[in-house]
Amino acid sequence: MERTFVMIKPDGVQRGLIGEIITRMERRGLKIIGMKMVYVTEELARRHYAVHEGKPFFPGLIDYITSGPVVAMVVEGPQAIRVVRDMVGATDPLKAAAGTIRGDYGLDIGRNLIHASDGEDTARFEIDLWFGREGIITWKRDVDRWILEKVE
Ligand code: RTP
Ligand code: MG
Repeated sequence: MERTFVMIKPDGVQRGLIGEIITRMERRGLKIIGMKMVYVTEELARRHYAVHEGKPFFPGLIDYITSGPVVAMVVEGPQAIRVVRDMVGATDPLKAAAGTIRGDYGLDIGRNLIHASDGEDTARFEIDLWFGREGIITWKRDVDRWILEKVE
C-alpha cells in the first residue's frame, strides 16, 4: 500500500469541484485516510513548493495557493502516487489528456485545480508537512475485498 498527498487548490474549491474531485478518487477505489480544509499560510506554501523557489512562476504560485482555502488529503491505495498523478494529468491543463482532472476542468497552468505528490520522497515529506502523525486516520473499509483481491 502506498500513501500520497493530494490538495484541491483554491480554484477547485471556489469552483465547487471538491465533491467532483473526491468522487473520482473514491470511485477509483482509493481510500481517504486524512482530510482537512486549510487556509494556506505563506510559510506553508513556501515550504510545500520549496523545490520551485527561484523559478519565474514561484511568486505567482505562492499567491495562487494562498488565495483561498484548499482541501488537503492523504490518499491510500496500491501505487497510489502514480495512480493519482495519472488521474490528475499533465501540469498544463491545455496539454492534459481528456479524462484527467486537469484535462476535464482546466484551461490554464496557473489554475490547474489540484496538486498530487510526484514520488515516494515527496509524498513522505508532504504528508508529514501537512498532517504529521496525528492527522492520519487508520480505518478498516469493509468494501476493500471487492476492490482488491488480496486485502492487506
Ligand atoms: P503540483 O506540484 O501543483 O502537483 O503540479 P505539478 O507537479 O504538475 O507541476 P510542478 O512542476 O510541480 O509545478 C507546480 C505548480 O506550479 C505552477 N506552475 N506554473 N507558469 C508556469 O510555467 C508554471 N509551471 C508550474 C502550476 O500551478 C504547477 O501545478
Ligand atoms: Mg509538483
